[in-house]
Amino acid sequence: MTSLPTRAGARGARVLAFGEHRPARVVTNDELSEHMETSDAWIRERTGIAARRYAAPDETVVSMGAAAAAKALAQSGIEASDVDLVLLASCSMTRSIPGGAASLGTLLGATRAGAVDVNAACAGFCYALSWAADAIRNGSARHVVVVGSERLTTWLDPTDRGTAIIFGDGAGAAVVGPSDDNGIGPVVWGSDGTRADSIRVPDDGAYVTMDGPGVFRWATTEMAEVARNACAAAGLEPSEIKSFVPHQANLRIVDSLARQLGIDADRVARDIVEMGNTSSASVPLAIARLVDEGRVSPGDPMLLVAFGAGLTYAAQVVTAP
Ligand code: UT7
Repeated sequence: MTSLPTRAGARGARVLAFGEHRPARVVTNDELSEHMETSDAWIRERTGIAARRYAAPDETVVSMGAAAAAKALAQSGIEASDVDLVLLASCSMTRSIPGGAASLGTLLGATRAGAVDVNAACAGFCYALSWAADAIRNGSARHVVVVGSERLTTWLDPTDRGTAIIFGDGAGAAVVGPSDDNGIGPVVWGSDGTRADSIRVPDDGAYVTMDGPGVFRWATTEMAEVARNACAAAGLEPSEIKSFVPHQANLRIVDSLARQLGIDADRVARDIVEMGNTSSASVPLAIARLVDEGRVSPGDPMLLVAFGAGLTYAAQVVTAP
């Protein structure tokens, strides 16, 4: 058997910078109550959400993702021309051909980068982040732009109070590069295709449907262990985690996971209050806020866990840039 060469990669990989794009339009719970039977009080109590953002007509998954990535690149000091790979995590593109990553790379000026879309729904950013680290450590890339970008309002029935109250639009991004100290821990991931119907756009439908209570139960009964396993894989106890950044699905899920892990409230990211659930964008958006607010210092371990349609999930410990 011929043995083909492998490339020598970097010793480690780490996130060099995060970036965010939050659409300007703020949609309050009161605004939703105008065309759906719901209330500000109900939404706050059952989801923790006070408002979400809606993309403007000319804002797309690609344009919002490029805006977030451009900020992350500027912050990292890496030139767009030095990006080798663009990974776009999204489940809300308006079409499947072509994917959006190549267009995003072009908008960014990453003209020689490989580009691929990743659809693991709300877990997509954590999957893509793990692949970025693997690519850098295996030598197939030196600098990778990882984007989570969603325009979920494209797929929302504005009258469905089971979905329209939680989801919103936005994008977050990370620039990942080589490092002597590894800053992206082993990923713990998995899926359950028997529950593909839990969150989906039906074949004959135009809008996403969700078994909200079923997904809620699944997340609150199974995701704490996934997060704990990601900590163990990184050689850390949950008590050593500086910031806990779960997918911002519902604040009651966020708080339940933190409680199960014994992580104090002041170490938990709560971007959902102002952004709603932005699927694959929620984790990088939440981290970008922590960084902006100076709530994490370089090298601090952050525990990420994301889960959603598929069903899919992924978790890892990442050091703050
Ligand atoms: O990001 C991908 C993963 N997705 C998630 O993690 C979502 C997880 N699920 C959830 O966040 C929650 O299930 C929802 C926020 C979607 C729904 O909250 P819930 O506490 O599970 O409510 P429910 O669907 O069990 O409904 C409870 C009651 C029902 O009334 P009855 O039958 O008890 O009289 C609903 O009809 O609340 C009613 N209801 C509402 N009332 C006012 C459901 N939605 C609303 C609403 N406003 N928006």
